[in-house]
Amino acid sequence: MGLKTAEIGFSILVLFQYSYAYKLVCYYTSWSQYRDGDASCLPENIDANLCTHIIYSFANISNNQIDTWEWNDVTLYGSLNDLKQRNTKLKTLLSVGGWTIGNRRFSDMASQAETRSTFINSVTTFLRTHNFDGLDLAWLYPGQKDKEYYTLLLQEMAAEFSKEAQRTGKERLLLSAALPAGRVKLDEGYDIGKISEYLDFINFMTYNFHGAWEKTTGHHSPLYKGKKGNSYSNVRYAVKYVLSRGAPPSKLVMGIPTFGNTFTLASSDSEVGAATVGGGTPGLYTKMSGILAYYEVCEFLYGATVKQILEQKVPYATKGNQWVGYEDQESVKSKVQFLKTSQLAGAMVWALDLDDFQGTFCKQKPFSLTGAIKDVLFSP
Ligand SMILES: *[C@@H]1O[C@H](CO)[C@@H](O)[C@H](O)[C@H]1NC(C)=O
Repeated sequence: MGLKTAEIGFSILVLFQYSYAYKLVCYYTSWSQYRDGDASCLPENIDANLCTHIIYSFANISNNQIDTWEWNDVTLYGSLNDLKQRNTKLKTLLSVGGWTIGNRRFSDMASQAETRSTFINSVTTFLRTHNFDGLDLAWLYPGQKDKEYYTLLLQEMAAEFSKEAQRTGKERLLLSAALPAGRVKLDEGYDIGKISEYLDFINFMTYNFHGAWEKTTGHHSPLYKGKKGNSYSNVRYAVKYVLSRGAPPSKLVMGIPTFGNTFTLASSDSEVGAATVGGGTPGLYTKMSGILAYYEVCEFLYGATVKQILEQKVPYATKGNQWVGYEDQESVKSKVQFLKTSQLAGAMVWALDLDDFQGTFCKQKPFSLTGAIKDVLFSP
């Protein structure tokens, strides 16, 4: 009797864990290799047992075919895929596109059956040649006129992946897409219900709700609506919205940023909603006004004033005329708890190389933010 109960309990536990096998999808960016000193990140710096999926960003499109971006991509693809020797369950995907490639080359390729087919065939060959397990489509962003072609591209890609698996006896290649969290862009370019059928999962970019392009401070990835500002620039609203448009929760992977968005304040007012004159001072390593990597935030925090935006479950810090809205262990935990309660597919991290991947800056464990996400995601 006692044993039986224990056995049943065990089976239920196994079943439970199986049906709640969350994904932790982590982006790695190839250009992070060029950052100075300890900030330079190579695939071999990545903990093979941290994420369930790693997505290498980005690949190019050239003559309607997928192509490398960096001179040493092939070497880096190799070292990334070598991580699978240390974690046989790890899946790797290659992301094609990104914001610098723009809309045009995607739009031209997708608008005709012949060029779509050229692209799709090049993808299958390229992924197999370099030992990837799938493709992530980072077309940022299809417009109204691209909407039906975007769907067709995914439909035909998924069909080819299935055929190729049957033909070769290999495991089917995975297909994911990066989707914007803003309602306008979502409505314009994506037939969300349909594309969800063809995708294994959706990488939902629930960040950059606020940033240097605006005239007032605001956290760029608040979980909930704030006291000030509109009701839709937050993670919860975006998730609710995309689900209402037909994305199944079981395929929705919610984005969590390991970077902060920064502002330079216009006056001594440093609250949320304070006037700004633009992005913050560029970080020593990321060298771009308006953002700081988590490891740069850690350095910024020396001598800074930290405040929690309680109703939005995120922190910000100020020092002099600088303002940064970022994530800490607590805020990422709230986000993971939210996505688990919402029965989503898991968490996506942008990006591994912006986390404190060596643990040298924040004096915490390596990958302290992604690690905190992992801990909550995989704890019962
Ligand atoms: C991507 O492909 C286009 C078209 O062939 C080419 O002009 C561009 O230089 C490529 N970009 C990189 C970074 O290789």
